[in-house]
Amino acid sequence: MQYRMLGRQGPTISVVGFGAMTMAPGIYADVDQQQATGTLLAALGAGITLVDTADIYGAGLSERLIGRVLRGRRDKIVLATKFGGDQDERGVLVKGLGRPSYVRKALDASLGRLDTDHVDLYYVHRLDPATPIEETMGALAELVEAGKVRHIGLSEMSARTIKRAHAVHPVTAVQTEYSLFSRAPEQEVLPVCQELGIGFVAYSPLGRGLLGGTIRSREGLEPDDWRRGNPRFQEGNLDHNVALADAVATLAAEQGLSAAQLALAWLVHQGVVPIPGTRKAENVRANAAAADVRLDKEVLTRLEELVPPGAVAGEQGNEVYMANIDT
Ligand code: ATR
Repeated sequence: MQYRMLGRQGPTISVVGFGAMTMAPGIYADVDQQQATGTLLAALGAGITLVDTADIYGAGLSERLIGRVLRGRRDKIVLATKFGGDQDERGVLVKGLGRPSYVRKALDASLGRLDTDHVDLYYVHRLDPATPIEETMGALAELVEAGKVRHIGLSEMSARTIKRAHAVHPVTAVQTEYSLFSRAPEQEVLPVCQELGIGFVAYSPLGRGLLGGTIRSREGLEPDDWRRGNPRFQEGNLDHNVALADAVATLAAEQGLSAAQLALAWLVHQGVVPIPGTRKAENVRANAAAADVRLDKEVLTRLEELVPPGAVAGEQGNEVYMANIDT
């Protein structure tokens, strides 16, 4: 495992983290809690120190599980969680969750579930259309002052919002969907993070599993899998995207890697921190090993040629949830 500072503010983290959304039931498929515990322990055993969750993953279940597993290990982990990402039954973001009174309440609830007195990185999960980002940041700055939060993060925010927020209090990390299949951050968000010295954390670094190479058809998804409704997993689009992932897998195999490892190593090479999610200990170990892969120029060029920006078919599928993104 390799370690580096997250942005100019720190903390020091493993260059591959662990995304704990998949540990909650009802997102991709049912998850056995014992298996999820074993997977998280395997992540720590592989040298992963950044554990990323949110209050909404399994309605607090992911945080509770992490709280139990981290007991006695808390000081070795950079623990990240998020607030303000709740959706209504149509999948639309609930308004008003960026208000200072809500931020304080949400943090106390997360600390209780995580069984800790502080979080290392506390993210605004989505921009609240009802509250200026300056007000939300003001509340977070007070929580830093109080010692309950070490660092502040923003998730899925525009370059403009990131700049406004950073002017109130330094932002340590920005988290956005980013992978070979989702390249939008290259336009504005990545450059602004570089300019301001903010660390970049890439969620869904495997294209929600497409780059894992195991999803071949819609039949391979369980009936309650959320991805059944995602544009990239629809008939027509899915065949195209599987063929792209296969091309990545062929290039990866030449290097003695899996497609997932090549996709993660590509992100690490760019200085961003992928946080793949998995229910399986063997996959978490393989993902951690991607941190040590060195990609030469020729492989990088061939990879970029195979999967240029926009190569994937279908939208990301979280547009309704981000309809309020401040551009
Ligand atoms: P998210 O951020 O939504 O969790 P992601 O990290 O892009 O998305 O992809 C997660 C998916 O990739 C999971 O479905 C996971 O499946 P398993 O739980 O079956 O592992 C899959 N995945 C993660 N690591 C993988 C690996 N090394 N090989 C194959 N599939 C992998």
